[in-house]
Amino acid sequence: MTTVLVVATGWDAQDWADRIAALLPGHRVLSAERDGSYSGPASDLTEVRYLLAWRPPQPLLDSLPNLAAIFSLGAGVDHLMSLRLPDVPVARIVDPDLTSRMAEYVVWQVLHHHRLGPAYVRQQKAHIWRELDQPAAAEITVGILGFGHLGERAAAALAPLGFRLRGWTRTARTHSVELFHGADGLQPFLAGTDILVSLLPLTPETRGLVDRRVLGALRRTGPLGGAIYINAGRGGTQVEADIVAALADGTLAGASIDVVSSEPLAPDSPLWDFDNVVVTPHAAASSEAHALAAQIAAQIAAHERGETLVNLVERRRGY
Ligand SMILES: NC(=O)c1ccc[n+]([C@@H]2O[C@H](COP(=O)([O-])OP(=O)(O)OC[C@H]3O[C@@H](n4cnc5c(N)ncnc54)[C@H](OP(=O)(O)O)[C@@H]3O)[C@@H](O)[C@H]2O)c1
Repeated sequence: MTTVLVVATGWDAQDWADRIAALLPGHRVLSAERDGSYSGPASDLTEVRYLLAWRPPQPLLDSLPNLAAIFSLGAGVDHLMSLRLPDVPVARIVDPDLTSRMAEYVVWQVLHHHRLGPAYVRQQKAHIWRELDQPAAAEITVGILGFGHLGERAAAALAPLGFRLRGWTRTARTHSVELFHGADGLQPFLAGTDILVSLLPLTPETRGLVDRRVLGALRRTGPLGGAIYINAGRGGTQVEADIVAALADGTLAGASIDVVSSEPLAPDSPLWDFDNVVVTPHAAASSEAHALAAQIAAQIAAHERGETLVNLVERRRGY
């Protein structure tokens, strides 16, 4: 009987395991504890063929000698790429439920800043009833750093609202949205961007990419009175001290931070206290077992039939 193991550190692995077991009769589905440890006999682990993983501990990975494939329980795979992995395919989540959640988050935050949310919250606290000048969406350019699956869908959700859109990728591509790519394309991309939305994966190349230089290159003469930075990709792609400094000196007129380099955000981080910053706890697009288990079960069934897995990660590039 084929054995499947779910390791979902910090999450409810049993929920995922129950759903996978219901979808894959004839398989033995094991689950690790919430802290990522496995409390069953070590002999169970030697039989594991498929691993469903979120932040698996290295020692547990090292005790799985018969793995055939690894499935990331999220769209991001930096939690796996930082580990010593066996030479097996690694697949990630690409799913309409997760994608819609991210598009909702991006639209929500872009509109919050575009519709002067921070200023109106400030006025409400002071009991001030005063209409402020409101720029049209068509006057604002939203630039999406990392125009992949999620970036493209977020752009598609913003387009009908009238925003001007552009994207930045690693490799050259053509799209109805204007795209820039690579190191040479970054400055021109930033120079015309009013609201920067980062949906980058964390890789050796993107680590620390959003720093003072990048934030300082954004368009600050636009109708919002400054540049806005929204990050729902990975916290490790930004330098938080530079974001704080850019907010303090007006380089940034606002920000929405869903991810930080070390989560949870430290209680004494200045980011909590800016009234033009929205902080959410890595909640932009959560991986919901009820929506995503079927996709992984189908991938396992396909692999057992000898078919190729989809949504594979390219190990060399790190995403
Ligand atoms: N906050 C949350 O709740 C949450 C939820 C889900 C996912 N995420 C994050 O969102 C990320 C993106 O997901 P996705 O499905 O859109 O990934 P994806 O389809 O792999 O897209 C990644 C995009 O980033 C670009 N990119 C990667 N490295 C780059 C570099 N060095 N320079 C310029 N562009 C680069 C890629 O360029 P190419 O097009 O040239 O390949 C691609 O456009 C995930 O990796 C994850 O970290 C966050």
